[in-house]
Amino acid sequence: MNASAIEQLDPSQRSLNWLTDLFRTTFCGIQMAQRWVDLVLFEKLMDEVFPELVVEIGTWEGGLSLYLRMLTLQRKNPFHTFDILPPRREGNPLWKVLRMEECFTQEDVFGSGSVLRKLLASDRPAVLLLCDGGNKAREVREFALLLRPGEVIGAHDWGNEIGAADVRPLVEAEQLIPFWLPQCEAINSLWRFWVRG
Ligand SMILES: C[S@@+](CC[C@H](N)C(=O)[O-])C[C@H]1O[C@@H](n2cnc3c(N)ncnc32)[C@H](O)[C@@H]1O
Repeated sequence: MNASAIEQLDPSQRSLNWLTDLFRTTFCGIQMAQRWVDLVLFEKLMDEVFPELVVEIGTWEGGLSLYLRMLTLQRKNPFHTFDILPPRREGNPLWKVLRMEECFTQEDVFGSGSVLRKLLASDRPAVLLLCDGGNKAREVREFALLLRPGEVIGAHDWGNEIGAADVRPLVEAEQLIPFWLPQCEAINSLWRFWVRG
């Protein structure tokens, strides 16, 4: 449905569309490629997984990044987000208020000397790694093996950009153990999570 078709909808349909269309969703007015209901997953993950560091691959406009920054700031934990492109900061005063520059690295995460690779390989706190960049299957395959047992990795766009065949070798080798599938399915989320075995 294009933008003008949406304007034709009656207001109740318009807000329903906003709830389900990944590319019309905003957090505090900044676009995020998520459904709003996905945010509840991260809210709960903070309290059930207790990550000491949250890392997002794929900042895009930064809506989800702002939310994750708030969740981690509140817990006095670091957050880091990576994108090959710079996010648009105009019209995003929260980017400055939340000191997002400290959390953002512009790079190709697959580069051999990438900051992400070095960060994951370093002596760092326990991470929650969220794969939402340009190639989710490759992100999970390459970065899952840099995690430590018990750490959690998530991938977005399940069924569209990544599927069971992409993670099967890691799951069969018990390097990744499916985690929170009922929670994701209950809210019809496109996120999937695994614990590093
Ligand atoms: C689906 S969007 C991220 C959505 C964002 N997490 C959100 O919830 O709003 C994917 C992002 O990955 C970035 N990207 C693509 N390839 C990349 C790479 N090799 N390294 C880092 N970022 C990459 C793109 O520039 C794009 O902004």
